[in-house]
Amino acid sequence: MKTFEDWATRRTLLCPSILSADLSDLSNSVAALNDNYDMLHCDVMDGSFVPLITFGSQMVKQLSGKIDKPLDVHLMVQNPEEQVRSFAEAGVCSLVFHREASFHPQRLLNEIRSLGCYAGVSLNPATPLEDVKYLLPDMDMLLLMTVNPGFGGQAYLSQMTDKIRSARAMIDDSGYQVRLQVDGGISRDNLADVLRAGADMVVSGSAIFNAADPGLEAQAFQSDMRELDRELKRV
Ligand code: DX5
Ligand code: ZN
Repeated sequence: MKTFEDWATRRTLLCPSILSADLSDLSNSVAALNDNYDMLHCDVMDGSFVPLITFGSQMVKQLSGKIDKPLDVHLMVQNPEEQVRSFAEAGVCSLVFHREASFHPQRLLNEIRSLGCYAGVSLNPATPLEDVKYLLPDMDMLLLMTVNPGFGGQAYLSQMTDKIRSARAMIDDSGYQVRLQVDGGISRDNLADVLRAGADMVVSGSAIFNAADPGLEAQAFQSDMRELDRELKRV
């Protein structure tokens, strides 16, 4: 795992999703971001938990060897317990699995931490927050899907803003340091809404990689985030 000091700060982190990059020319697609991001979000899909298949730990390991930034891996797979070790060995920084795909999430969170990665759980839009409430002591991150998982380029589900707000309150009340990530349909148009609701890690795929200049778009995201961090007193 690459060391990542900023995880423990209150600063909002930008995680561009390579799902919307040119996967056949990934090095150049990522280079086009000009380092204007914090972590690279890697969507692993197995054709079962979600319809499509993307890539596995071997590709992620090769990517990890080529870029300096930490990798944030989002496992959209059945039986995630069978895969966490190979991703940890690939050098990723954070590993997130879906609550809906795990019978023993607490055990899996502890295993991910013992493998040296930040451990996270993701919830589909319809899955209640109550399903992770008793996991908070074992988590480093909660990922709220703000679209139904499986595809880039979908519209943000506006009813998720309330869920983000409730998740932030639940985390703050617990006293545990758990980052709150949002994923799906996030652009600079709704960035302020999700940050003000309490998100502190933002995934964005199509809004960044489909922009005319992905590096400039990522830079604009980061500058909007710094302004919102000041407004929200996260600096
Ligand atoms: C969707 C993935 C997302 C996706 C987001 O299932 O988990 O990470 O890449 O893409 P946008 O930002 O285009 O909604
Ligand atoms: Zn994702």
